[in-house]
Amino acid sequence: MAISGSWGKARGLGSAYDRAFGRSDSPWLSGSLLCNTVLMTDVVDTSAPNPKSFHAMIDGTKADWDHITEQIDLYNRSFVDRVLEHLTMLADDSSGFAVNRLEHSLQTATRAYRDDKDTEYVVCALIHDIGDMLAPYNHADVAAKILEPFVSEANTWMVEKHGIFQGYYFFDHVGLDKNMRDQFAGHEFFDRCAEFCHNYDQMAFDPSYDAMTLADFEPAVREIMGHGPRRSIYME
Ligand SMILES: [Fe+2]
Ligand SMILES: [Fe+2]
Repeated sequence: MAISGSWGKARGLGSAYDRAFGRSDSPWLSGSLLCNTVLMTDVVDTSAPNPKSFHAMIDGTKADWDHITEQIDLYNRSFVDRVLEHLTMLADDSSGFAVNRLEHSLQTATRAYRDDKDTEYVVCALIHDIGDMLAPYNHADVAAKILEPFVSEANTWMVEKHGIFQGYYFFDHVGLDKNMRDQFAGHEFFDRCAEFCHNYDQMAFDPSYDAMTLADFEPAVREIMGHGPRRSIYME
């Protein structure tokens, strides 16, 4: 299920995000980021193999890598599209819960937003379970690693540890220690993660809750993750 059809709405003022996120913490309304926003027409097809490229990395030249780096930069322009598209896949499963995994994610993010959390926090809330489908045994680690280049250490830790902290609300029902989170007692981000789970994550299974849509959050995701990483091993 492609989400590219919402580009037009997302990139312009007057979008659902503008109405929902009309707050001073977001530079989106000011238009200051619009010049950096990647338009769908800017995304170049990088799918074709390059017959001139090396067959083993040991033979690579600077010219090869200049070209590859350029192509990777072009491919990365659609990174946020891939994140959003993967979020839509979470709708494919409910696993016995009262709402599917996408609805749970939307409710978590909506609750955080309506509690006046900042944009970065809201995006973390939206993406915190993105690993559910590909990493059912360590899903929180996947979400944290996807977010880590773009968000604070505190938010990365919160997302990474939320699986353990969420256990406070159900581990005793499945034969595990509900106080597993106590191994982090005294950690500087313990209260942050406990609050995330208590106020938003464990609350987000209500079929009657009026959650915002993924389209509402799309510009927020682009704002946080669509302008390059803060840190990466590929940065100087
Ligand atoms: Fe989770
Ligand atoms: Fe969750």
